[in-house]
Amino acid sequence: MDLTEQQTIRDLYALLEKEELSKLQGQTLSFGGFVRNARSMGQVAFLSLNDGSCFENLQVVYDASKDELSGIRLGCSVQVEGVLVLTPEAKQPFELKASRVELIGKVADDFPLQKKRTSFEFLRTIPQWRMKTNTFNAVFRVRSALAYYIHEYFFQHGFYWIHTPILTANDCEGEGQTFQVTADAKKPAEFFNKDNVHLTVSGQLHVEPFALTYGKVYTFGPTFRAEKSNTVRHAAEFWMVEPEFSFAHLLDDCDLMEDFLKYVVSKTMERCEQDIRFFNERIDSHLLERLKEFIEKPFARVEYRDALKLLEKAKEEGHRFEVEDFRFGLDFGSEHEKYLTEVIFKGPIFLINYPKDIKAFYMKQNDDGETVAAVDLLVPQIGELCGGSERECDYDKLLSRMEELHMNIEAYQWYLDLRKNGSIPHSGFGLGFERLVMLVTGMQNIRDTLPYPRCYKDMLF
Ligand code: 4AD
Ligand code: MG
Repeated sequence: MDLTEQQTIRDLYALLEKEELSKLQGQTLSFGGFVRNARSMGQVAFLSLNDGSCFENLQVVYDASKDELSGIRLGCSVQVEGVLVLTPEAKQPFELKASRVELIGKVADDFPLQKKRTSFEFLRTIPQWRMKTNTFNAVFRVRSALAYYIHEYFFQHGFYWIHTPILTANDCEGEGQTFQVTADAKKPAEFFNKDNVHLTVSGQLHVEPFALTYGKVYTFGPTFRAEKSNTVRHAAEFWMVEPEFSFAHLLDDCDLMEDFLKYVVSKTMERCEQDIRFFNERIDSHLLERLKEFIEKPFARVEYRDALKLLEKAKEEGHRFEVEDFRFGLDFGSEHEKYLTEVIFKGPIFLINYPKDIKAFYMKQNDDGETVAAVDLLVPQIGELCGGSERECDYDKLLSRMEELHMNIEAYQWYLDLRKNGSIPHSGFGLGFERLVMLVTGMQNIRDTLPYPRCYKDMLF
């Protein structure tokens, strides 16, 4: 069988959209997939068949008198062959009048999925099955489309994809939240002959030399953080997209982030229209409205110092925050980020120029001596979607900051040296890919955007 020739249910819907489905009317087609629903009325049986290609099912109608088909129910795999009939008056726009229905894989009595709605908590305990439910079927299709359009955007804009390593001897964010790697727990240093090897928290440091050579590059791969926090937005293993580009300053970084995100979200909305319509109906009734605004409205740009003033003003006007100590040098909590995006700006905001003490060592030091050219993109419902900065490209300034932070200079000498030879201004950011999936699907727990979530005290198999 030539897989490229095989019709999928998605192909039928694509033809319907173009008003060309009538050319298949009366033709014999075959499909394989699993059964979402089965029922019979007298001599006629109906199957809802899903082949995974899109959200919609194919209605299959056949003669129910065949005994061997009586076991067909939710979860069974079948192959069907029959004639396509357009049914513009009915609930579904077409159906397959099957001449052959073959039960390929039966379902055991303990099959955990049922017709009735099941909680996301329960489905998290069966990640090997949950993609067969409407919701997760749609989530992972959207996830795949988002990844595709991320690559498409960068490819079209001249960025090269660099595969930075997963095993590393550097800690990019300098927070020590790393997973150690060893081949022998008793002699951890032996295998690589290094003091400390761990799973990467970010590909940024490794990708910077490529940006200084190719101009525009990005990494896109798994990253790992041993944060002992149990939230709906943190995973121990998540994917990060990290563009890095030369001759770019902080505001160029914001421009790239905005253009890139708007492209990826709008393309995915077109491609996964059925899926996103379902999320809007069943998961979050404001989703479509929010996504439309995300694409159409410019993101606000707000100085950290101005954000402090706005929060102070909200407090004076009577809004109660759990943490009400707004001083320069403090990081915002999620309640503050929420207030800024959802109440004051009613949309995504770039918060820029943070105090240097709450940001990473590599960020460009501003002339005020107190702030760095950092940016966080904050989004309603999600919180921090991206974090980035212009990089410090002055050797002496970077060295003195690293000394201030008591970093192991020797281990980062290779990185420092980039500032000695042909140094240029450059900037980049990291997008938490799962948080983007949350944004586009309306799913509220990061565990429901990862095929097999790995979180604090939470990993199944
Ligand atoms: O803000 P972060 O820590 O930035 C960096 O790692 C930079 N090196 C990126 C760069 O400039 N190239 O992480 C970037 C993004 C965050 O904004 C957040 O969306 C996501 O990664 N993120 C997480 N997502 C899920 N689970 C976690 N534990 C995450 N930690 C960060
Ligand atoms: Mg951050």
